[in-house]
Amino acid sequence: MSEALRLGVIGCGLRARVYCDGAAEVPGLRLTAYADLRPDAARGFLDSYGGDYACDDPGRVLADPSVDAVLICTWHDTHTSLAVEAARRGKHILIEKPLALTIDECWEIEEATRRAGVTVCTGLKMRFMPLVRRARAMVPRPIVLTGQMMNDRVPDTAWSLQPGIGGGTIIGAGCHTADLLCYLAGADPVEVYAAGSNAIHGGPAGLDALVGVIRFANGAVASLVHGDPGRNPYTSTFFCQVFGLGQGICLHERYRQATLWGFEAATLGVGDLDARERADLEGDVALLRHFSDCARAGRPSEAGAREGRIATTIMVKMLASAAAGRPQQVEVDWRSRYG
Ligand SMILES: NC(=O)c1ccc[n+]([C@@H]2O[C@H](COP(=O)([O-])OP(=O)(O)OC[C@H]3O[C@@H](n4cnc5c(N)ncnc54)[C@H](O)[C@@H]3O)[C@@H](O)[C@H]2O)c1
Repeated sequence: MSEALRLGVIGCGLRARVYCDGAAEVPGLRLTAYADLRPDAARGFLDSYGGDYACDDPGRVLADPSVDAVLICTWHDTHTSLAVEAARRGKHILIEKPLALTIDECWEIEEATRRAGVTVCTGLKMRFMPLVRRARAMVPRPIVLTGQMMNDRVPDTAWSLQPGIGGGTIIGAGCHTADLLCYLAGADPVEVYAAGSNAIHGGPAGLDALVGVIRFANGAVASLVHGDPGRNPYTSTFFCQVFGLGQGICLHERYRQATLWGFEAATLGVGDLDARERADLEGDVALLRHFSDCARAGRPSEAGAREGRIATTIMVKMLASAAAGRPQQVEVDWRSRYG
């Protein structure tokens, strides 16, 4: 690998812009190429961030031997084919969540990247938020957790709601909270159940609001609440509680503020963070830096394909549970695929 990690960007939209803005904060990372089906979007990124070229063909970036790693920030239905081809070409991969829309596709990515020996990091950014990391360290063995993402309403015409492209918000965005709960519980999920509604958008996108339960291998249990009926200003979009024995943490204000019990301090907030954390409350730069460090050192990411697969699996199985009216077993290891 060249000294700097030369990153090609595939999908030059809203999310890729956040990473490209953050790239300047990550030494050893160099943005070199941009591809988007909309050539103007790719050219706009080249103008903003510099690099060697912009194009409308992701295949050109994937085939470019001078590109060490790719950022995949496209619509959800394209994640699998792009990631599998990137692995085949020996590129390290930072791929936005959800890793893929089905459990089988997640396995396909995981197997291709493992075979190729490349680092893959899934954009599950909540675990990189500074107060979330503090919460995990402060309550290492939680008993009960709650995680909630209740968003402002996504426009009915959004690509993310189209079944074949975005797959709806339950998998597409709910995977964030699924991963957060696994991270904070410190264990793999073993069973989920859920009930849902499609009262927000109706139509073909399927369920758009869901309340689920996760049982973890270490005995912890969690509730997961997801939807986009509108944002409650009291809880904010992201809201989470971690209950240990006699102590716990409530994370609110989009995880920028924590109320504590059973600790000396009563609260934890932005003022308790260091300057680097304060400048990156969403964890975007921390995630990018983590990916760059792992790829350059040739080591796996803590938010790898396995974590991406587990997050998608939880949400897919919750949808299955809501449809069947029964709990669903979640087997996350190779036996679930190979028997
Ligand atoms: N973690 C977060 O907070 C967060 C927030 C928003 C979006 N996302 C994720 O980021 C990804 C992109 O979402 P977005 O909001 O940036 O969408 P977007 O529509 O703004 O950008 C996606 C871009 O990908 C391009 N594209 C689609 N298919 C392509 C293909 N096959 N080859 C090349 N370009 C292609 C589109 O033309 C578009 O410019 C999704 O996975 C989404 O879930 C994550």
